[in-house]
Amino acid sequence: MELFDVYSLFDITPVRGEDCYVWDNEGNKYLDLYGGHAVISVGHSHPHYVDRINSQLQKIGFYSNSVENPMQQELADKLGQLCGMDDYQLFLCNSGAEANENALKLASFHTGRKKILAFERGFHGRTSGAVAITDNEKIIAPFNAGHEVEIVPWEDIEAVEKSVASKGVAAVIIEGIQGIGGIYVPSPDFLMALQKLCRDTGTLLILDEIQSGYGRSGKFFAFQYADIEPDMVTMAKGMGNGFPIGGVLVAPHIKPSKGLLGTTFGGNYLACAAGLAVLEIMQDENLIANVNKSEKYLLSKLRKSIDIKDIRGMGLMLAIEGYEKIAGIRQELLFKSYIFTGVSGTYTMRLLPPMTLNESHIDCFISSLEAAVDSG
Ligand SMILES: Cc1ncc(COP(=O)(O)O)c(C=O)c1O
Repeated sequence: MELFDVYSLFDITPVRGEDCYVWDNEGNKYLDLYGGHAVISVGHSHPHYVDRINSQLQKIGFYSNSVENPMQQELADKLGQLCGMDDYQLFLCNSGAEANENALKLASFHTGRKKILAFERGFHGRTSGAVAITDNEKIIAPFNAGHEVEIVPWEDIEAVEKSVASKGVAAVIIEGIQGIGGIYVPSPDFLMALQKLCRDTGTLLILDEIQSGYGRSGKFFAFQYADIEPDMVTMAKGMGNGFPIGGVLVAPHIKPSKGLLGTTFGGNYLACAAGLAVLEIMQDENLIANVNKSEKYLLSKLRKSIDIKDIRGMGLMLAIEGYEKIAGIRQELLFKSYIFTGVSGTYTMRLLPPMTLNESHIDCFISSLEAAVDSG
């Protein structure tokens, strides 16, 4: 049987990972500044993460959501403590798209409304509702296009005001930092104005922190740079360091009822073990402080290095926009210096490394980047 061929692949086969490095099947060692697409938060195969999942598997790996699983509460308690949102409620699922799908459904149940407002350049996933609110016509099938959606320009508060004034919008959804679109950070003033408009019109505000959450921005959630309290926050990627897990944080004023949401795999023992291990490592190793320290060092080095048009982002979620096409530089970095990076569009490199990144990794990246630019 052939695989359904939907991915463009690099001819590289990783077989092992450790902290910020991966090794391929030919023994080459790569510095991972892409984090498997912002997923590797606490480092590849961290010993505590491996032990937590291993020892859980020795006991029990799965039962359904029809019985008590105290690990879900343990995860909720630890998450509430670390993100400072202990009064919110946690719904567990398996991926980012699924987290958004549940948040949209819950917003619609809660308000009795159908329409969702999203932003240009936004990405929210590939399932039915999540892809309908994503600003990319190429991935929206006719079936998905049946949803009531309006996509407005980035940070255009007047466009939002006009739309929510009808009191027909269930929710506005916005990324904590736009990721796939090229790393654009919403200003705190805009987020605060958005929250006010939402509250005035009974519209819910959903923060998609699937890529920007879990410490990557230098705070637990990127929206925490603004003084807002979203109605829902969606999470995935860094939450399980590669183990499939996603979640929705739900504000206390939104009440659950039996059967309102549900999933077979969400919140299973192994996912909870992975999620708890991530939070324990983040706390024990003070990784959010490390994100801020590494960001400062990286930016100071980068500014003294190559000719850059723009640097965007926060923490270890950064975009470097140059004057030269990025594809060639990325190829050089990957195949000559063995460094993984991400991309957005033609000129922008995206860096989404593990939060354990240190100065020696950064020095290696900067000298390799200079060499790649020189040879281009
Ligand atoms: C901001 C954002 N939302 C949602 C998703 C979808 O997540 P998943 O691929 O886990 O479904 C992504 C994935 O890249 C994302 O970056």
